[in-house]
Amino acid sequence: MRNLDEHTITQAVLARNAQPDNERLREIMTSLVQHLHAFARETHLTEAEWETGIEFLTAVGQICTPQRQEFILLSDTLGLSTLVTAQNHKKPEGCTEATVFGPFHVQGAPSFDLGADISTGLPGTPWFVKGQVRDIHGAPVPHAVIEVWQADEAGFYDVQKPAGVAGDYQGRAVLQADAYGHYHFKTIVPECYPIPHDGPVGKMLEALNRHPWRPAHLHFMIVSPDHERLVTHVFREGGEYLDSDAVFGVRSSLIAEWQRHEPGTDPYGNPIDQLFYTLDFDFVLNPRSR
Ligand code: BEZ
Ligand code: FE
Repeated sequence: MRNLDEHTITQAVLARNAQPDNERLREIMTSLVQHLHAFARETHLTEAEWETGIEFLTAVGQICTPQRQEFILLSDTLGLSTLVTAQNHKKPEGCTEATVFGPFHVQGAPSFDLGADISTGLPGTPWFVKGQVRDIHGAPVPHAVIEVWQADEAGFYDVQKPAGVAGDYQGRAVLQADAYGHYHFKTIVPECYPIPHDGPVGKMLEALNRHPWRPAHLHFMIVSPDHERLVTHVFREGGEYLDSDAVFGVRSSLIAEWQRHEPGTDPYGNPIDQLFYTLDFDFVLNPRSR
């Protein structure tokens, strides 16, 4: 194939890609090439702009480490993560909605008994969280595995702190609901935070006059053998940034009241000399499709 020009190049690439062993790969690459080429045509992309794009993607790759996932941030801030999540988790009415996974989940979080303080020494306002895991018919889902992770009162996850400051894990835990689907634990109230914005994605947001902030939230991942895995957050009613989340993750059904209480007695019946918050949030799992 020679003398390809702006009118013939797309078809030539598609023809060259036409014979992979994997049919799904062929489908995805065909669509990707068509959309990339259409984008360059539609915008009349200049060589300088194309180089800027290459430099940007290079910087996105170069800043990535096992602790820093800039490509997830890019996908999140462009709404791609929310699109992929939404189209892969269409559920019956009544099921808890899923939202973005984010880059701050880590494998190997410690297991705690129900009722434990999972903040492991983080300073902050005490927060008592409880609820029930149920199925679509309202029956309890026994013994679901519930993983939680959260930012601290300054808006930082443990993995964002210098090694040794946070210990191994803080503000993350694996719990198991009881036989009636109930779960409960103690932690501290997490605050709003800006997504990491000292890299290329931060520069992109700045160039677009966008802020990097996320509304306060608590992450949950709930796993039970007969149900679809649920990855979601619970957001704070009345909190800032609910309508301008930098990563487009807010869903009305995931906003709940984080109730404020005066000092006195905590939900476990223990005396408490500072104000504290409680959250009561139930989850409804979607049956696994067979
Ligand atoms: C998070 O909620 O942890 C998160 C999600 C997307 C981008 C950055 C952070
Ligand atoms: Fe988060």
